Amino acid sequence: MTRKILVTAALPYASGQIHLGNLLEQVQTDIWVRYQRLSGADCTFVCATDAHGTPTMLKAREEGTSPEEYAESCRAAHVRDFESFGIRFDNFYTTHSPENRELVERIYSRLVERGFIRTRTIQQAYDEEAGMFLPDRYVRGECPSCGAEDQYGDSCSACGATYAPSELVNPRSILSGRPPVTRESEHKFFKLGEFESLLKTWMQASNLDRGARNKLAEWFKEGLKDWDITRDEPYFGFEVPGEKGKYFYVWLDAPVGYMASFRNLCGSGEDGESRFERYFGPDSDAELYHFIGKDILYFHALFWPAVLLGAGMRTPSGVCVHGFLTVDGQKMSKSRGTFITAADYLAAGLDPEYLRYYFAAKLGPGLDDIDLQLEDFAARINSDLVGKLVNIASRCASFVQRGFDNRLGPRLHDPALYEEFVAQREQIGEHYESRSYGKAMRAIMALADRANVWINEQKPWELAKDPDRQDELQAVVTQGINLFRVLMTYIAPVLPDISSKAEAFLRSGLNWKEVDEPLLDESIAKFKPLAGRISLKTLKALVETNRGQAAAEVKHSEPIDIDEFLRTELRVAKIVKAERVAGANRLLRLTLEDGGKGRTVFAGIAGAYAPSILVGRKVVLVANLKPRKMRFGVSEGMVLAAGEGESRVFLLSPDEGAEPGMRVR
Ligand code: MSP
Ligand code: ZN
Repeated sequence: MTRKILVTAALPYASGQIHLGNLLEQVQTDIWVRYQRLSGADCTFVCATDAHGTPTMLKAREEGTSPEEYAESCRAAHVRDFESFGIRFDNFYTTHSPENRELVERIYSRLVERGFIRTRTIQQAYDEEAGMFLPDRYVRGECPSCGAEDQYGDSCSACGATYAPSELVNPRSILSGRPPVTRESEHKFFKLGEFESLLKTWMQASNLDRGARNKLAEWFKEGLKDWDITRDEPYFGFEVPGEKGKYFYVWLDAPVGYMASFRNLCGSGEDGESRFERYFGPDSDAELYHFIGKDILYFHALFWPAVLLGAGMRTPSGVCVHGFLTVDGQKMSKSRGTFITAADYLAAGLDPEYLRYYFAAKLGPGLDDIDLQLEDFAARINSDLVGKLVNIASRCASFVQRGFDNRLGPRLHDPALYEEFVAQREQIGEHYESRSYGKAMRAIMALADRANVWINEQKPWELAKDPDRQDELQAVVTQGINLFRVLMTYIAPVLPDISSKAEAFLRSGLNWKEVDEPLLDESIAKFKPLAGRISLKTLKALVETNRGQAAAEVKHSEPIDIDEFLRTELRVAKIVKAERVAGANRLLRLTLEDGGKGRTVFAGIAGAYAPSILVGRKVVLVANLKPRKMRFGVSEGMVLAAGEGESRVFLLSPDEGAEPGMRVR
């Protein structure tokens, strides 16, 4: 019977840019899905943007747009980034969808009916100026335990202590900078504790790695506490039915977003409903797997199955947990230049398939962190992928082309060797199935070594010189091309682009089930290089550029004398018009009144200011900058702003009374 499998990867937060860590997860998931499909399973892969929560709401405000629109633009960026890396979703949706709202409401009402929700009044930090309750991370202050300054409201980065935001010394809201007050609010809690034994049973029956089981055992030992599943307005999310001003916490509706994305894929009408039921209904015979990082295990292995059990719904067949990506042995960091986004990687001209291969070579089924080491990355691509695998084809193709008009011979030279290659299919398949991709890659590269050694022994270049041995030569290179074909089939889940180029070259699809049938007596296409070498310089440059950008933001410069400073002509200016620039998300075109004839300046502040709120505002202008020609027009100066990045930008403004044109010094 065909396996029916639904697979999900964690839903990236709307407000985040896709980085190599997110890609590690998506690549891991995508390889598994592609393997399942290649080997004949009916495998569906869905994901979505995790749209809700306070950060989305605030970011949207900063950008002067609605949270809906903001989340939608993030979704588009996520789709584009993942597509570039060959991640093939059946659906990439959003949690802010009608399907999700309906499912969350259905689940919640069942939990209420069955008595799994209780109401409790809690005390929470409140920012009177911003008019909102503050999530723990929005309060900063001194650690109550060691006194370290500027720590988050939930834990100390200096000593590792965990505490409530109310325990911080000199707490401040990061929104207004003012000390928060404590306010009461009524919240809904999910009674997680009642599910302990059901969760233990679920854990035994489900597909979980040993490391994940150990983590769960620890949590069971600590005891399961009630879970606060509501938040107060203002909040971007779904309002709790019947509870004015209360919203479902983003982490309640996010995993339901998996279901909603699939529900959306199923389509409307009865057909859609019945397809959905085949996966999520009580008689489902479909498998359901969630791929996630270790930081969100608690949500996926405790809260989520418990919520499903409480609502009388099916539970996941397994949760596949990976470790964190580090770069050169350390956590990805902006200042070290190792926080690399998908866009950074592509902009450096690096091939996405190389990253896929590298991740595959390093991935196992466990929670261990994965280190991206630049030297190792370059070496593996150049020696394994290019030097071993692709090389098999390029070495043989020239003979097939020159001697035999691109035609493969009627026989293999060494059928027994071919059989040995075919015989590894099952083992390699098992490695994919168990997410031991590193083992699969090693097995494939070991075979590639054998193929190369064998070709060396046959010396086709000598056979080519001997007119009496042309049949033998054709059999040898036909064998070489066929060994390559087997290996490309094995590695196809990892390298979708290179393997489709290989298919074009072979004029034949790569099919897991058909590798035992060699390709004989067929014409193949002219060989084109499938993959080129990578230079360590390019990789290092990527990190350097990133680091340069980060350093520019924090570096203190050399001292200068006053004359040098006075060469900069600073003047007060008034913004009379501010517009977005089509094709440049970060830029605003500002029309300034400057005491003279006025001018136009382009400013990279669109991430922080809605154009409408800028009109009438006075700013500080660098008036004697040489005009700079940009793609969208000429910028005649610069307005001063404090800050970093794209959204934490703060324009400088003079006090009341300053007039346009006034000199600033
Ligand atoms: N929105 C939540 C997930 C909700 S799922 C119902 C979230 N989003 S996230 O954008 O922060 O992370 C998305 C995924 O990327 C998570 O599985 C997370 O573990 C993973 N990673 C984030 N940084 C990572 C690394 N540095 N390395 C590997 N995976 C990482 O959490
Ligand atoms: Zn501390």
